Amino acid sequence: MRNILKYLFYMVYYPASFVWRKLDGIGSWKETKWWIDHVPDAMFTSATYASYAVWIQHQGMFSVLMSLYLKKDKPNILDFGCGMGNLAPVAYHFVRNGGKFLGIDTDAKSIAACHKTYKDLENCEFYRTRDPNAWYPQDGVQPTKPGEIDWPVKSNSQDLVVAMSVFTHLQEKAAIDYLKKIHDVLVQDGLAIISFLIVRDYVNPNNDIYNYKHRLTPGWFTATPACPECSIGIEHNALLKLLGGKFKVLGHIEGCLTGGKHPSLQDLFVLQKI
Ligand SMILES: C[S@@+](CC[C@H](N)C(=O)[O-])C[C@H]1O[C@@H](n2cnc3c(N)ncnc32)[C@H](O)[C@@H]1O
Repeated sequence: MRNILKYLFYMVYYPASFVWRKLDGIGSWKETKWWIDHVPDAMFTSATYASYAVWIQHQGMFSVLMSLYLKKDKPNILDFGCGMGNLAPVAYHFVRNGGKFLGIDTDAKSIAACHKTYKDLENCEFYRTRDPNAWYPQDGVQPTKPGEIDWPVKSNSQDLVVAMSVFTHLQEKAAIDYLKKIHDVLVQDGLAIISFLIVRDYVNPNNDIYNYKHRLTPGWFTATPACPECSIGIEHNALLKLLGGKFKVLGHIEGCLTGGKHPSLQDLFVLQKI
C-alpha cells in the first residue's frame, strides 16, 4: 500500500506541482510570483520533505518575526539546518544591500537544491556541513567527531541564528553543544530563534510521533526509541535549564503539535544572547 501511494505521489502529485506553480505564477502579481519562483523543484524529494502549506506558514511567520526583531542594518543571518532553504527568500529582504544569509545543512540534496533555487539571491550562501545526525544519514563525507561542529563562521559574527525543527532532532548532549556554539557565534545581544517540541500534558490524536512516552535523560524524551533523533521532545523546565545563563527569552510562540495554544506547529523561542 505504502509503495502504491509513493508511486502515485511521484506519478501524479509531484508533476502536478509544477503545473500548479506555473498557473499560480501566471495569475499572480510580480511580487507574489517572485515567491513562487523561489520554491525549489526538489522540495518533495529529499530528507527535508515539506508541504506547500508548511512552507508558506514558515515564510509568513519569519517575515513577521524578522521584521519585528531584527533591527540591525546589513545583518549576518545563519540558518542552522536550513533544509531546502525556505528562509532564504525571507532573509534576502534583509541582506540584499549588505550582510549575509548562510544556510547550513547536513543533507547534500537539500544544499544542492538551495544552490540551484536561490542562485540569483545576492548575499545568500549555503554550506553542507560534515556534522552527522542519526535521523539524516549522510554519505560521501567524513563526518565530524562528537563535540566538533563544522560551521564556516567566526565567533561573535552573527546577528541572528535560526534553527527551525532542528533541536527537535537532537538529543541533550548534542543540543548543549549546538546551543553553546550558537552563543559563541552570535554578536553581543545577538538573537536566536529556535523551535522545540515542548512536552505537555496532551495526547496528539493525529500523529503518535509527537507523543513522548520514552524518557532519554531528565526532561528529554523521544517518541521513536528505535532512532530517538526522529522526534525529540523537551519539558519546559528542562528547556529553561538548557538556556539558563546564556539566553534571555524575548518571546515564546506555543506549538500546536504538542498541545500549545498558537497556530505554529512547534514552539518558537525568540532568544537574546546574554
Ligand atoms: C525537519 S528539517 C527542517 C528544515 C528547515 N529548517 C525547515 O524548517 O524547513 C531538519 C533539518 O535539519 C538538518 N540537520 C539535522 N541535524 C543537523 C546537523 N547536525 N547539522 C546540520 N543540519 C542538520 C536536516 O538535514 C534537515 O534538513
